[in-house]
Amino acid sequence: MLEPAGDLRDGTAPTVSRRGFLKLGLTLAGMVGFLGADGRMPPPAPHRTGRANAHVSPAVLELNDGWEYGRLEEPGLWPYRGPSRYEEAVLPHTVVRLSWCDWRPERWQHLWVYRREVIADGNALAGRVFVEFAGILTGALLYVNGRFAGRHLGGYVPFEREITRFLRPGKNELAVVVDARWGQNVPPDRPRPYGPASIDYWQPGGIYREAYLRVYPQTFLAYPFARPADVLDPARRRLEVECLIDSARRTPSPVHVRAELLQGGSVISESTVRLPGLEPGRRRVHLTLASLGDVKLWDVRSPNLYDVALSLILAGRVVHRLQTRTGFREARFTREGFFLNGRRLKLFGLNRHQFYPYVGGAMPARVQRRDAEILKRELNCNMVRCSHYPQSEAFLDACDELGLMVWEEAPGWDYIGDASWRGYVLRDVRRMILRDRNHPSIVIWGTRLNETRNDPALYRRTREIARDLDGSRPTTGAVKRAPEESGGIKESRKGREEDPYSTRSFAEDVFSFNDYTRKYVRSRTGNFRLPVLRPPRVDMPYLVSEAIGAIVGPHFYRRIDTGRVQQEQAILHAAVHDRAASDERYCGLLAWSAFDYPSGHGYSFRGVKWTGVCDVFRVPKPGAAFYRAQVDPSVRPVIEPAFYWDFGPYAPPGGPGRKSTIWSNCERLEVFVGGRHFASLLPDRADFPHLEYPPFVVDLTVDGSGYPELRIDGYVRGRRVITRRFSSDPSGDRLLLKLDDDRLLADGSDMTRAYFQVVDRYGAPRYRASGRVYLHLSGPALLVGDNPFDLGANGGTGAVWIRSKKGASGRVRLVARCPLLGSSSASLYVLPAG
Ligand code: GAL
Repeated sequence: MLEPAGDLRDGTAPTVSRRGFLKLGLTLAGMVGFLGADGRMPPPAPHRTGRANAHVSPAVLELNDGWEYGRLEEPGLWPYRGPSRYEEAVLPHTVVRLSWCDWRPERWQHLWVYRREVIADGNALAGRVFVEFAGILTGALLYVNGRFAGRHLGGYVPFEREITRFLRPGKNELAVVVDARWGQNVPPDRPRPYGPASIDYWQPGGIYREAYLRVYPQTFLAYPFARPADVLDPARRRLEVECLIDSARRTPSPVHVRAELLQGGSVISESTVRLPGLEPGRRRVHLTLASLGDVKLWDVRSPNLYDVALSLILAGRVVHRLQTRTGFREARFTREGFFLNGRRLKLFGLNRHQFYPYVGGAMPARVQRRDAEILKRELNCNMVRCSHYPQSEAFLDACDELGLMVWEEAPGWDYIGDASWRGYVLRDVRRMILRDRNHPSIVIWGTRLNETRNDPALYRRTREIARDLDGSRPTTGAVKRAPEESGGIKESRKGREEDPYSTRSFAEDVFSFNDYTRKYVRSRTGNFRLPVLRPPRVDMPYLVSEAIGAIVGPHFYRRIDTGRVQQEQAILHAAVHDRAASDERYCGLLAWSAFDYPSGHGYSFRGVKWTGVCDVFRVPKPGAAFYRAQVDPSVRPVIEPAFYWDFGPYAPPGGPGRKSTIWSNCERLEVFVGGRHFASLLPDRADFPHLEYPPFVVDLTVDGSGYPELRIDGYVRGRRVITRRFSSDPSGDRLLLKLDDDRLLADGSDMTRAYFQVVDRYGAPRYRASGRVYLHLSGPALLVGDNPFDLGANGGTGAVWIRSKKGASGRVRLVARCPLLGSSSASLYVLPAG
């Protein structure tokens, strides 16, 4: 029930009762956060969704559970005749169950209906009710009680509508017709006859992000923006705060808007502006928060965050309060490199796609956040590019909290459409910036779509939008023509012609190049063929936005490929980062890609692009070894061979062989084979002079017939800081099973990963292990994934996810059994939500 506690007309905010709000039994525990008797707002409840930059309004209800959905067989008859069969759905949701590979888009390319009930008390209707869908792929029509209430096209920005006038007291039906078909003339899609494989990533349909219902008073605050200014000067440092007041009616009495900067609940700075009264409509309010000399800066090492609370006060009472987060940092791209808070910092990172096994994009906050943790804590990146669309807010929240800088861009991939399509580009840029401009982690906007042809008029407008809505961040766009090829003329079989991809009129602030230059040089020691980067552009800040991928080197980096190929992935990534570090004019490099991703385009195999340094399950491959070692040994000493210590049927004779690489942040490694000292190694600084932690190269051609053990000791300043052992004897192999979390919330959406890998007796992955894993889950949760799981297809590694059930708490146990390796088990607790 939505039940306002008082008369909204005099400006009291609505409250929500605990009576059954939803047909399927949503409990509103934890959502009753309203004004206290003194008219002051109690501190906001912790964000269960991890959506730190969300509005904390009088009532924000998650609308994730209680849906049912079905396929619309006769599109023309909607809303008179819906699907003949409905199944339960909890958001985030994709319309079909998928495996981790071999996706067939024709399975989701249909129209679907999602519906659920909302029960509104009559008084609630005196407020203003909005519904928001954070992401629907790809088109959506919204109906409330069978009446059309709005339409949205495009999968990556929120769809929000006010539905107040459609609601009636009592039961209401919300229905969303989801058009999951390809080619709806909206970015990044191309029109028919191109199919979904004409761009680089599959986009399975559904309401694949969270949904919310918000109840506002008649006059409320929206679109807060807290922009730190003069950050590096403690005397002038301030926060420029703005927001919109949206008023449905005339508000005669004086109106105040108060802004507060908060840390741990206490006010550091505040400011109030008085307005003489409001006419219906929207109006922008500005406030400045000063005296911020003592705030701590946001940095990659210490990502300090502050809350900003805005209150709307009518006739002396707070009627609406919303909260966002901010961080004080200065990020500058210059022709001499990138500077964070005045300190030179080489941007070191990877590109991330948001799609996952089994569910497409439909992973909840916890799983989205995990990707940011992997990038920052396991791969030691300081930046990620959200290729090629705005990604989940939970992911961005985690980037803020972890100190992982972000490039965010509007949806697009190598195509620009007609006028209507371009209109959506403008909408997307606008919505992306309005949604995300409070994230300190975002340091640059991609206002130019990935690898698109030149379109000066379109990109002038997207830049203007960015300047208008933000103004504090530079713009960019990844291009596929190198600076020296930007002259505008292209030689082709047809002769000389205008090059549509020319960047002659590139006008964004930072020139970002997807550098897949297929040129190599022999390394100094002669051990490697290393790819080179194009020289940086000297007249503009210059960033390498992609490199390696599937284009430089072999086309696949699968665990079923040869050890040599897998090992080479780490070397190639290291080589381009080494080059980027060699010259201060490179702001840095974001390689392709962090994770494998589902795709039917180009060099895909079984519907997957194998360009990740981690696989689709987010488990690091040997290619990740380079990234894993790039961390100070005092944080974490690392020894990661990029080879498998294996003499089994797939391994080459003689074992890992010459030029085997071990990635480590130690100063010296001592290698022992079969209990005997084998080699003392120093890092290969000759071939990788600019890397902090270059690889160690060793000739590991050995006779493996007696299954010798490998032991590596790592030394820093003469002290042994780490030892790792590897067993080639398969008789000790076992199935490792690990859960990312030991707790879930019983909200029906929450999920965590359970990954398994065939490992040797010491926990190192076994090369090309095969067999089937049979999973058995007991307790109040669901298994999302293939069961049994065919290990051989991904070379001995896989994962499933565990999803909570609404309202069901208790202990969950997962047992993974592999006929030849025995079983492993792991457990977690599902805690009551709310
Ligand atoms: C790039 C493109 C990426 C990805 C990559 C393939 O050209 O920008 O999205 O397709 O190639 O490895």
